[in-house]
Amino acid sequence: MSKVAIVTGAGQGIGFAIAKRLYKDGFKVAVLDYNEEIAQKAATALGEDAIAVNADVSNRDQVIAAFEAVVEKFGDLNVVVNNAGIAPTTPIETITPELFHKVYDINIGGVLWGTQTATAIYRRLGHGGKIINATSQAGVVGNPNLMLYSSSKFAVRGMTQIAARDLAEEGITVNAYAPGIVKTPMMYDIAHQVGKNAGKDDEWGMQTFAKDIAMKRLSEPEDVANVVGFLAGPDSNYITGQTIIVDGGMQFH
Ligand SMILES: NC(=O)c1ccc[n+]([C@@H]2O[C@H](COP(=O)([O-])OP(=O)(O)OC[C@H]3O[C@@H](n4cnc5c(N)ncnc54)[C@H](O)[C@@H]3O)[C@@H](O)[C@H]2O)c1
Repeated sequence: MSKVAIVTGAGQGIGFAIAKRLYKDGFKVAVLDYNEEIAQKAATALGEDAIAVNADVSNRDQVIAAFEAVVEKFGDLNVVVNNAGIAPTTPIETITPELFHKVYDINIGGVLWGTQTATAIYRRLGHGGKIINATSQAGVVGNPNLMLYSSSKFAVRGMTQIAARDLAEEGITVNAYAPGIVKTPMMYDIAHQVGKNAGKDDEWGMQTFAKDIAMKRLSEPEDVANVVGFLAGPDSNYITGQTIIVDGGMQFH
């Protein structure tokens, strides 16, 4: 029987590339996103063994309802990719309590509720599973102007280690992927903001990031999906609590 995966934030960008990869690897795939329209479009593009489910990952009740709908539909759950996240540029003086809660609720809360719900379902189904979280090179080394985002991604690395220790004996592995500069709508927004702040264009904004990459090319979403495909498959069964950096050579740890 084919395995079942949920990918959050899979309506576009890295999440969609991951959904495509897992589908190709034989998973039944649930495309979870809070944007109903793109989630549906993405699921249709994958094929008949994919469905769209809607939830805001920062809302625990919505996450539980969406995950349960997937189990109801496909009868199993084996892999959860907590990919959804947001990355507003936040120079220190611009941060408000609202923005603080928004970023932390989505980037940290989303991973927490996804982990908690996946664990409860794996236990009920009586088998282990895999949990795979999106962190970032900005969660490995602090990035300027990204106080909220960068720190939230540090938290995701910590949560990955903690959950890995807490859940290992139940056959649940927990790992993370840390992309660099990936060509997605999120990154184009950041490049636009950085360019605008410096009085330059978007391309200039993008190149400020590209120059720090040893391989001198930006990442395609598929570069990241390849690593997640490995983490979701049997070849990574003896790996847990790790963050795999996939950034073309930006951070070396
Ligand atoms: N693009 C990059 O360069 C880069 C680098 C490092 C890490 N990442 C991380 O990878 C992940 C995906 O990034 P991306 O570039 O594909 O982003 P993106 O903005 O292009 O896509 C994110 C998707 O998540 C969905 N989403 C956002 N908040 C949500 C919520 N609260 N509930 C449900 N869905 C939600 C959006 O609708 C969108 O479809 C994020 O966690 C991001 O932080 C991205």
